[in-house]
Amino acid sequence: MIAIIGGSGLTGLVNLEITKRQIVRTPYGEPSGPLTFGRIGASEVVFLARHGYGHTLAPHEINYRANLWALHAQAVTKVISICTVGGIAPALSAGTIAIPDQVIDYTWGRPSTFFEGAEQPVTHIDFTYPYSEELRTMVKDAARAAGLPVTDGGTYAAAQGPRLETKAEIDRYERDGATMVGMTGMPEAALARELGLSYAALAVVVNPAAGRGASARGVSLEDIGRVMEESMAKVRMIVAKLVERHGGA
Ligand code: HPA
Repeated sequence: MIAIIGGSGLTGLVNLEITKRQIVRTPYGEPSGPLTFGRIGASEVVFLARHGYGHTLAPHEINYRANLWALHAQAVTKVISICTVGGIAPALSAGTIAIPDQVIDYTWGRPSTFFEGAEQPVTHIDFTYPYSEELRTMVKDAARAAGLPVTDGGTYAAAQGPRLETKAEIDRYERDGATMVGMTGMPEAALARELGLSYAALAVVVNPAAGRGASARGVSLEDIGRVMEESMAKVRMIVAKLVERHGGA
């Protein structure tokens, strides 16, 4: 089954025919909220609002381990992360939807592995390519079928937040090779890999990153809200196509 983790601006899927809501407890505590099971067409899907259904959890407060564990316990095999980002590369203008293929993790202090504690042997995972290429291709194909252009690839800088970045931080991320910046991409992607889940992200550019383009003098939070609202309709169309094609019964 496919799971959708919805980010800012996407706390539900309008085209989802809800079949049940389930509270899941995990050894790591509570997920961001109950899992919402439903159907799009004939295909089953499970949805989870990353920031909680009332958007109350800041990026560093999200229990990423509980979220991924809960999904894994429901026979989920594929996870699509919906997230919003600031565009660092000029080509990633507001409204663009990107499917990143790399990550740089600048977050700190977030529980970021299942492999810790007295009874757990030290375990390393290969993370050379943090996203599933197969799932990325499915998302690209779904976007094509929906008639919506997406940018293939890009390096996601995971920032700590919840504040936005300084211009110097964005300059640094750019020098490091990042093309977009968000706050929730890590440790989510790594935890998915630890559980053997396929994982890909649909990153919606909602603003030029700090000090870039229209954000040269500051980032407009009003503009972010507007672009987010406009873009989520497109995200829903891509998700619907993806689930229809690959969700299974
Ligand atoms: N920085 C970090 N996270 C974000 C941004 C940004 O500019 N826009 C949306 N999420």
